[in-house]
Amino acid sequence: MADVVVVGSLNADLVVKSPRFPAPGETISGDDLQIIPGGKGANQAVAAARQGAHVSMIGRVGSDGFGPFLVDNLKSNNVETSHVFKTDSATGTAIIVVDANGQNSIVLSPGANGKVSPADVDSASFLNSKLLLLQLEIPTPTVLRAAQKAREAGLQVILNPAPAKPLPQELLANVDILVPNESELSLLTGLPVTDASSAETAAKEILKQGVKTVIVTLGSKGALLVTDSQVTHVNTYKVNVVDTTAAGDAFIGGFASKIIESRRRSPTQEGASYAMDIENAVRYGCACGALATTKFGAQPSLPTKAEVERFMSL
Ligand code: RIB
Repeated sequence: MADVVVVGSLNADLVVKSPRFPAPGETISGDDLQIIPGGKGANQAVAAARQGAHVSMIGRVGSDGFGPFLVDNLKSNNVETSHVFKTDSATGTAIIVVDANGQNSIVLSPGANGKVSPADVDSASFLNSKLLLLQLEIPTPTVLRAAQKAREAGLQVILNPAPAKPLPQELLANVDILVPNESELSLLTGLPVTDASSAETAAKEILKQGVKTVIVTLGSKGALLVTDSQVTHVNTYKVNVVDTTAAGDAFIGGFASKIIESRRRSPTQEGASYAMDIENAVRYGCACGALATTKFGAQPSLPTKAEVERFMSL
């Protein structure tokens, strides 16, 4: 297995750009339909691979034409796909409307993603891998199994709790780094999260549940890094926003690739150098997320390592 294992979703994104979101009961016209590789799991796998990480993916596609479309796209981005299984159902799809400001609204049809099972996780070896990336577009028992197995095998576990849903405490107890946005953090804690200060309060509640690090993504306001010994607000970059789809996935892929690099330098991941490494990884993730918003679509918008390094040096 690779340095980074992703257990998660693959979606065909059916995307229409529209001047605005329709009101309930209203019909409006948008641009031509585009079919774009997406899904939070696959997006994060491609995002990390484009930053040079060795990535493998565990997931499922259906028996329709979207399956090979998504798997071939992973392969062409150097993501290892031997544990992306085919299932007798539709491939996951996401119906996405992007408005003139680049904001999106998304309805998911899980399809094969709903069939990703704990047995799929058990079929893969985590030996020699360093990091597990999880999201919530596959069944929660599968996410839990993956987190437990990763813990046993000594991998660091990063959970992006999206789309937001209540989580068993058992799952949080097996997570090292939680990366929610403001609304996800609010749902998980039952606390209002509206700014950096309320995000800090809520993140500290999550720390009490066994998570070691919480990184709250704050959109155009950057990200807040919270551990037992550190609270750091990292600003992001100002860009012209075209489409925010997959910006969070770009952040996580970029962040994960930097964590892998720092683990190569310092395998124990403790002390002051770890605090500095994780802050640098958050800054790098912010650059990846900002760049992703400057292009349309999920996976086509994910930046390469050269693009990020050039952008950060400007
Ligand atoms: O995070 C963006 C992704 O969310 C889209 O690619 C879509 O597939 C949904 O899963």
